Amino acid sequence: MKDIVCLAIESSCDETAVAIVRNGREVLANVVFTQIDIHKKFGGVVPEIASRHHVESINLVIKEALEEAHMTFDDIDVIGATYGPGLIGALLVGLSAAKGLAYALNKPFVGVNHIKGHIFANFIQYKELEPPFICMVVSGGHTYLVRVNSYDDFEILGKTMDDAIGEAFDKVARVVGLGYPGGPLIDKAAKLGTDNCGFKRVCFDNYDFSFSGIKTAVINYVSKNPEYNVNDVCRSFEEAVTDVVVKNSEKAIKEYNLDKIALAGGVAANSMLREKMQNMCAKNGVSFYCPDIKLCTDNAAMIACATYYNYILGKTSDFYLNAVANLPLREG
Ligand code: KG4
Ligand code: ZN
Repeated sequence: MKDIVCLAIESSCDETAVAIVRNGREVLANVVFTQIDIHKKFGGVVPEIASRHHVESINLVIKEALEEAHMTFDDIDVIGATYGPGLIGALLVGLSAAKGLAYALNKPFVGVNHIKGHIFANFIQYKELEPPFICMVVSGGHTYLVRVNSYDDFEILGKTMDDAIGEAFDKVARVVGLGYPGGPLIDKAAKLGTDNCGFKRVCFDNYDFSFSGIKTAVINYVSKNPEYNVNDVCRSFEEAVTDVVVKNSEKAIKEYNLDKIALAGGVAANSMLREKMQNMCAKNGVSFYCPDIKLCTDNAAMIACATYYNYILGKTSDFYLNAVANLPLREG
């Protein structure tokens, strides 16, 4: 079979990313231009600033990806881009660039769901991984427990009723004065602390999650204990939220009798979560999949992988495809 080379663009938040991937799983280039330092001074991502920086860097990042892969546009078969969910102005930059390229080069175009991309990062890391499996998506904007039935069938078993888990990490980090982005800073601080703040694990009978209560619990704890220890608060918070994620994941593999579970999204970079999931999987005799950190946080390799699978399933998009800020997981 002829090779299929996909070039994909990701610009849903604060990373301008372009990747080139052969046959869905072989990464030839994976360039990520992060704006973290720019947004840091505002304590979070400023959407309008993000869009402007995407506009400034997109062409350079495309050029760099082609150079890294030692390719020209002639070598590319399909162009893909994230079209949601995400910040609308940011999404429009990558999506418009991809549509423009596909139109000018007369190549097929594929719109990709960002969350689906996060799940597909696992296919890049693990060449042998095939559906069905359970995937726990833990990102800055989303928390989903998904049963991946095929490359095109995602069944949502549970989701957050309020805040995403990454949002909780970022908010708690701000409350204890650690800065942005909070996840990696809490990860580091928690290693030095003790789980002694008594934060509750919020669990439901189904597979849903809630992370806004613990955010409030941290705020109350900090205001009632002015001499609080930052490392202990981080440790207590991290233990509580990761316990719930692991508990729901374990429930799902047992109920659905699947022997594979994957992690996906930025919070999958969390060292405590990775370790607890690994231990839970070992205990249950289940295979655990978790991409390298570079593939967990936002990148375009995962979008290029999803572009490939959409393309071979005949799911190309037309040039009327618009960005959708709150795109549901079942689309794209
Ligand atoms: O998936 P992602 O890169 O962007 C979205 O699609 O939302 O996720 C970003 C989130 C942020 O909330 C960030 O704080 C969190 O991932 N994160 C982490 C770690 N590294 C990134 N959270 C916990 N521990 C980490 N090591
Ligand atoms: Zn993401």
